[in-house]
Amino acid sequence: MLVLGIESSCDETGVALVQCHSAEHKGEVPELLAHALFSQIEMHKAFGGVVPELASRDHIRRVLPLAQEVLKGSGRSLSEVDVVAYTRGPGLAGALLVGAGVACALGAALGKPVLGVHHLEGHLLSPFLSADPPEFPFVALLVSGGHTQLMRVDGVGSYVLLGESIDDAAGEAFDKSAKLMGLDYPGGPLLARMAESGNPKAYTLPRPLLHSGNLDFSFAGLKTAVLVQSQKMVAAAGVSIFKDLPQDEQHDLAASTQAAIVEVLVKKAMMALKQTGLKRLVVAGGVGANRQLRAQLNEACGVRKIRVHYPELHLCTDNGAMIALAAAMRLQSGKQQASANYAFDVKPRWPLDSL
Ligand code: KG4
Ligand code: ZN
Repeated sequence: MLVLGIESSCDETGVALVQCHSAEHKGEVPELLAHALFSQIEMHKAFGGVVPELASRDHIRRVLPLAQEVLKGSGRSLSEVDVVAYTRGPGLAGALLVGAGVACALGAALGKPVLGVHHLEGHLLSPFLSADPPEFPFVALLVSGGHTQLMRVDGVGSYVLLGESIDDAAGEAFDKSAKLMGLDYPGGPLLARMAESGNPKAYTLPRPLLHSGNLDFSFAGLKTAVLVQSQKMVAAAGVSIFKDLPQDEQHDLAASTQAAIVEVLVKKAMMALKQTGLKRLVVAGGVGANRQLRAQLNEACGVRKIRVHYPELHLCTDNGAMIALAAAMRLQSGKQQASANYAFDVKPRWPLDSL
């Protein structure tokens, strides 16, 4: 069975084709045949963040050419597609509507069923496409631009929320701190690069909710602490903006910020593993690409004899492969059937544990 997946929840248009096995091969991971991605980052950069209306319009321009590229790359034709999957939510309403509309139009034109997928389920299952795929059950640390969650995952569609951010997500903490440092959107990866040559202990920043006794996170206060610290540094150096500070000071604050975010994520993930008694951790979402986070999780998991799995680096941030994969795994597990009802809707807010 061939599943075409379309992702359009935010500022990346992604399309992918996945080969899925029948229900008898429940344990086998579907195979990724081809995927193509267009990132709108350059377009949104000028505005310092994603402009929803521009995002929707660009998805319209990109989605069909990307689908053609994927079909060409896999040597398959549109008529061979058995199911058309799309991101139904969460995300930007207008952007989601583009993917949903195109998927349902394709489905109706081909006479093939469609399936709306949860974006975070896509992230969560994306490590199954890596060279070292996980096995159920596991604890998932979902760290994206919009969400920070710890989940207990017992199988496809079996998700129990253990804790989540009560305000900003980890990716947002990276991006907002980076913005204060004068870095372009999305600043997360740029801040991480700066942090590599900085001293993570140079400045003391808060580790919010580290000792709260539960598995919730809070990152909103951190960006205020970064702002206050950067203002102090600018005043002490007698310069007018952060970017005019000596480079080592800039790098030290980036490293200290990253260290604060990473420490909380690692400690809470270890608490979740202890609480559930599970011995496997799956990390997913854009922040999962962070090298410091990976290094510290590897170390913490190594001491505790816990297996840790990540998506391939290029599949950490939004992409169509994870959407086609999540649809294929849902179909293969018998959890869900694709539908020939093309009256679609989207869910800009949609809790993963309600699936
Ligand atoms: O999962 P994703 O593509 O988007 C959402 O579904 O929200 O994640 C994007 C987020 C952004 O906040 C970006 O700054 C962050 O992931 N990110 C990183 C790194 N790469 C991406 N943050 C820290 N270090 C990185 N290397
Ligand atoms: Zn995402």
